[in-house]
Amino acid sequence: LLLLSLAVLAHNSSARKCSLKGPWINDLGSTMNISDVDNNGGFTGTYLTAVSSSTNEIRESPLTGTQNNNNNHEPTFGFTVNWRFSESTTVFTGQCFLDKKGKEVLKTMWLLRSSVDGIDDDWKATRVGINIFTR
Ligand code: BTN
Repeated sequence: LLLLSLAVLAHNSSARKCSLKGPWINDLGSTMNISDVDNNGGFTGTYLTAVSSSTNEIRESPLTGTQNNNNNHEPTFGFTVNWRFSESTTVFTGQCFLDKKGKEVLKTMWLLRSSVDGIDDDWKATRVGINIFTR
């Protein structure tokens, strides 16, 4: 009975923690892979975008981020992608959720900063959007 109770508890989504680690795909078809989250909440990873505002050939790019580690089983996080094939930078922020079926999902918002020719074009340099990542 004890073992059965433990097994039920282990499958209960409220007892599980949403983990950033591993492979993800978003609603645009972009993929990323996140490393172990360290004791300070730090992590690294790689990002392969499916779309681009640049005409350059898309290349896998590194990301670095942090997760809030204050005991939440659905932690918030942020990460930055340093695009290797363009002069842009994207920051993502979001929360790692367990959905009603216990599946992990990342609900994020992002800011994509493009490089423009000069300060007079600064007004048009930033795009904003949302992405949803699943396993
Ligand atoms: C660039 O356009 O210069 C670099 C690629 C940017 C890709 C953006 S980041 C936000 C959005 N989500 C994705 O998965 N890809 C696009």
